[in-house]
Amino acid sequence: MKKPHVIINCAASIDGKIALVGKKPLKISSEEDMARVHKLRNECDAILVGIETVLADDPKLTVKEKYVGAGKVKQPLRIVLDSRFRTPENAEVMKPNAKTLIVTTCKEFKKGHVEVIKCGDDRVDLIKLMEILYDRGVRKLLVEGGSTVIWEFLKNGLVDEMFVFFAPIIIGGNAPGIAGGEGATKEEDVIKFEIKEMERVGGGFLLHLIPQYEQ
Ligand SMILES: NC(=O)c1ccc[n+]([C@@H]2O[C@H](COP(=O)([O-])OP(=O)(O)OC[C@H]3O[C@@H](n4cnc5c(N)ncnc54)[C@H](OP(=O)(O)O)[C@@H]3O)[C@@H](O)[C@H]2O)c1
Repeated sequence: MKKPHVIINCAASIDGKIALVGKKPLKISSEEDMARVHKLRNECDAILVGIETVLADDPKLTVKEKYVGAGKVKQPLRIVLDSRFRTPENAEVMKPNAKTLIVTTCKEFKKGHVEVIKCGDDRVDLIKLMEILYDRGVRKLLVEGGSTVIWEFLKNGLVDEMFVFFAPIIIGGNAPGIAGGEGATKEEDVIKFEIKEMERVGGGFLLHLIPQYEQ
């Protein structure tokens, strides 16, 4: 199967939550971790999020020069999974700081730095999207969430590596976790990892994980 090398990155509390209850955004990464994330973004060809992350956080999904050094910024393509094309016109990802690809199941057009494509019938077809991205030259894809998107990538066996920064906080309640979606109902559906590295990073710790998919 033709697909980019897929890296998941997210920041979580020690109880595995990635936002506040009600999907309200919370800055979980420390400054040191932000520097790591921006360097990682700069090494990738594209950064992907789900539409709920755009609606909840309104992220820029760009690389900041202060983290990677003057003249070294290579803004990756920003990709939003947005079946019904709900991305607001005034969202940060619509601003011309970088190119944006919005992947829908209902619309196709190109306007300036924003391209909207159709891929799939109900929800975005991730397998087909991986091929489209590969054909467009995307070799390294960074998936930054949220919860539903992370689960779908893991469940479909598309992930090559995953970084989770854990901050020493607890959020509790029904706040979104690292992986949402349907989740595993059977033991054989649990996603297993090898721990490649663990290190202390700016007040928290970073896990570098490699999914162990059945062959
Ligand atoms: N701490 C962190 O590192 C971090 C990072 C990012 C986000 N977050 C948090 O995550 C939360 C949002 O997560 P979320 O789970 O609600 O939403 P999400 O994963 O950001 O977006 C999910 C949406 O993407 C769309 N989508 C289209 N095709 C899809 C596919 N094949 N697979 C999965 N999704 C697809 C669906 O909406 P349509 O059906 O309308 O297309 C789906 O509901 C926010 O609270 C945000 O703050 C935290």
